[in-house]
Amino acid sequence: MKVGILTGGGDCPGLNAVIRAVVRKGCFHYEDEFVGFLEGWRGLLEDKSMPLDLSSVGGILPRGGTILRTSRTNPAKKADGLERCIATLKRHKIEALIAIGGDDTLSVAQQLHEKGVSVVGVPKTIDNDLAGTDFTFGFDTAVNIATEAIDRVHTTAEAHNRVMVVEVMGRDAGWIAMYSGIAGGADVILIPEIPFDVDKVAETIRLRHARGRYFSIVVVAEGAKFSTDVDPKHGAPIVVDMGKDEFGHARLGGIAAILAREIERRTNFETRTVVLGHVQRGGSPSAFDRMLATRYGLGAIDMVHRNEFGCMAALRGNKIVSVPLADAIAKNRTVDQETIDVASGILDKLTTDKMVVGK
Ligand code: F6P
Repeated sequence: MKVGILTGGGDCPGLNAVIRAVVRKGCFHYEDEFVGFLEGWRGLLEDKSMPLDLSSVGGILPRGGTILRTSRTNPAKKADGLERCIATLKRHKIEALIAIGGDDTLSVAQQLHEKGVSVVGVPKTIDNDLAGTDFTFGFDTAVNIATEAIDRVHTTAEAHNRVMVVEVMGRDAGWIAMYSGIAGGADVILIPEIPFDVDKVAETIRLRHARGRYFSIVVVAEGAKFSTDVDPKHGAPIVVDMGKDEFGHARLGGIAAILAREIERRTNFETRTVVLGHVQRGGSPSAFDRMLATRYGLGAIDMVHRNEFGCMAALRGNKIVSVPLADAIAKNRTVDQETIDVASGILDKLTTDKMVVGK
């Protein structure tokens, strides 16, 4: 079979591991032939591709980024965009396409599927916010990087009697903040899902210091909604500028600086910020992500040969299963109550009652 592969959206550790697994199983077990489309959907729009064979996937397992490169191109936003993608697939005689991406990339995959293209999706994002699967690959690596950073920030915060505010990625979901905050022993964790009151954040830190601790660690998700209003529900995410990408997403960032200023004003404790940014997305995938990405790749090529099109390889429990793409893109998967309960159990009651889990 002739199979096309592309990687779309923000890059993510483990993309190369998926590509490698698809190509190796396809070549070893199905005698498939592969074409890699470059830079996400742009590769299909502009007919940019490279042949993919066993030698091109040699040595890529531990490499971050993607050998196919990526972009946030949305063909549905271009004149005849989807038709141009279909024409490219026909020109290359592609019989099935594997799209590796998050909700944006997979929403285009679904639209192409509705137009008759044989597509299989693979769930990728450090944000872990795709529905239909328990975990996306890349998330574990991002959490490990953030946790290590929080550990490092701890020692310098302690040495200087400071409050440190660590801003992590995750867009509209607080998964990275929750997992790295819990694993890194943060004192306050702020996520987009739960409105918070900055006065309560300051009060929590003041009380902690009054109890004899001289430093505090705050982990804040980039999408957490900031408000100085009496009602924290009126908060809004902090954006870098007013621009939006082709999928309508604003660039988030900057909440750590605002929060640090407000905490310092209210407590008089010296406060510093760390914005982890793209460090969370770069470099080698964790062993867990290499394994998960490999399993997703194998699952995707098997789905192609079982004609399970319009579906995505997903992790449920510890099994790789196939779920409809439509279900995966229907909504964002935000932080669940079980994870919130873990944070509540471990954090100061004041914090959890009134901010992190309080409504
Ligand atoms: O979706 C992954 C992600 O890293 C988000 O956490 C973040 O908001 C966004 O991408 C950043 O996008 P870009 O790399 O385009 O600035």
